[in-house]
Amino acid sequence: MTSKELRKKFLDFFKKKGHAIIPGASLIPEHDPTVLFTTAGMHPLTPFLLGEKHPAGQRLADAQKCVRTGDIDSIGDNWHLTFFEMLGNWSLGDYWKKEAIEWSFEFLTEKKWLDIPAGKLSITVFAGDKDAPEDKDSAKIWQKLGILKERIYYLPKEENWWGPAGQTGPCGPCTEMFYDTGKEKCNSNCRPGCSCGKYAEIWNDVFMEFNKTKEGKYLPLKQKNVDTGMGLERTIAVLAGFDNVYETELFKPIIKKIGELTTKNYPLPTTHYRIIADHLKAATFILAENIEPSNVERGYVLRRLIRRAVRHGRQIGIKNIFTHKVAESIIEIYPELKKNQDFIFEQLIREEEKFGKTLKRGLKQFERLAKNNKITGEKAFNLYQNYGFPLELTQELGKERNIKIDEKDFQEALKKHQELSRLGSEKKFKGGLADHSKKVTKYHTATHLLLAALRQILSSHIYQRGSNITAERLRFDFSHTAKLTPEELKKVEDLVNQKIKDGLEVKWEEMSLEEAKKQRAMGVFGEKYGERVKVYTIFNPKTGEIFSQEICGGPHVKRTSELGKFKIIKEESSGASVRRLRAVLE
Ligand code: ALA
Repeated sequence: MTSKELRKKFLDFFKKKGHAIIPGASLIPEHDPTVLFTTAGMHPLTPFLLGEKHPAGQRLADAQKCVRTGDIDSIGDNWHLTFFEMLGNWSLGDYWKKEAIEWSFEFLTEKKWLDIPAGKLSITVFAGDKDAPEDKDSAKIWQKLGILKERIYYLPKEENWWGPAGQTGPCGPCTEMFYDTGKEKCNSNCRPGCSCGKYAEIWNDVFMEFNKTKEGKYLPLKQKNVDTGMGLERTIAVLAGFDNVYETELFKPIIKKIGELTTKNYPLPTTHYRIIADHLKAATFILAENIEPSNVERGYVLRRLIRRAVRHGRQIGIKNIFTHKVAESIIEIYPELKKNQDFIFEQLIREEEKFGKTLKRGLKQFERLAKNNKITGEKAFNLYQNYGFPLELTQELGKERNIKIDEKDFQEALKKHQELSRLGSEKKFKGGLADHSKKVTKYHTATHLLLAALRQILSSHIYQRGSNITAERLRFDFSHTAKLTPEELKKVEDLVNQKIKDGLEVKWEEMSLEEAKKQRAMGVFGEKYGERVKVYTIFNPKTGEIFSQEICGGPHVKRTSELGKFKIIKEESSGASVRRLRAVLE
């Protein structure tokens, strides 16, 4: 089955079960500052899982592109990927465990759908702890469907719980479906979740039935949601009988291309090939979102992915600039990337050149160290950290001069560093529900006021090209060729503040996309919308005068007077004919 067929089957199946099919969202979470990338299908739905009404109804399904960086150390194994697609179905306070599990089972095993023998499935359910009971209900439903008792495993929170780790918000136990590849158990404790590769997790049904409070209590939720995610790449792999994702149509041409670029004769597929293919695919999709390599946040993740791919490329003997060539083979698989290809190639080439220079400097540093005929593990780690020299490279160079590198010391230094950086990035990289703080909601409404003010002061040709909100500020990209003058900036700022002072009201209505367009509600350029949309209107309750009308999922404040003082802190260019503003609420 091709990926296209699987996507279609999944969505057709859930359409038949009364779900509205909604378009997948951007890889860059628009309204969720707690994650750098969309890490699961539920992320773009956060406001609706928290009780906001979704215009398409209470049953939704989609295909969502995701990036996860938390698993980076596992990349190269059979199943983990940095970039992947997740097929998902949701119940927003509608159906519950019985339907969710029965439908998962039906889709996986019925001849008409995936036709996987039930005997090939192993299931995990939540084992229970002090916060929540053992999920006996799910286990019973699985057993009734014919899953043998010995194929149902009870696992603890670390493995069978989805939700805001360390944060507050909806969360709950999950039940995961694993495909048993039929390999021997690696040891007597081998079970679903084991890293040996025998079991491939292909689908996860999450039952969001609790709200985690600030005090760390788990209270029952009013609106119970089902959130599911099926891994597209893994599922087409197991359906084809592969024991890894790299042999599927979504990777094979990339691996082949890498093979053509290398001068060393490596047996296919090695870990190097896999890491290069995985990292460059993720990098290509991130670049397609107009993110550039840098030393902070998303740009830093992107930089790490590209440089890691380059290092592995050097290790299999690729000497010349090559990442853009691999990207070419990726774009052939995903034609929707074609429109961004110039930017993708340009950025890859530039980053690889930059990294090449760093490596050269590293070589000089190596020469300096080698003069003493000794390189400690710690020094080797510094080479890795500051110049991107992997241990293998330093070892290889050392060998030529009879210098031995203490691997244990190196690993220790590495571990120490990883522990430190993990502490720093945990919050950003973990997938989970956002604390939809009041601040973010305020910035969201301020963004609508800003767009309306720009259109009124500058030109009605202005459209939103991007938006990013954190609890500290808003960032807004819009189509406009000229730099804004200080006078213009002041006028825009004043108009927004006037509208805040006027205490405008914010309301929303649900309508068809067509109706919204007829009303001339603003949409986001290039955004894909579902058939039903929510339109937010900001208006003067006394005169009825409308200031802003936008298609948007929300949430927003009720009255603009809640916002405080609006201040533009920066204006700059953000690509050809796009300007970028940063603003704060004081
Ligand atoms: N949100 C769940 C996951 O990503 C479905 O596994």
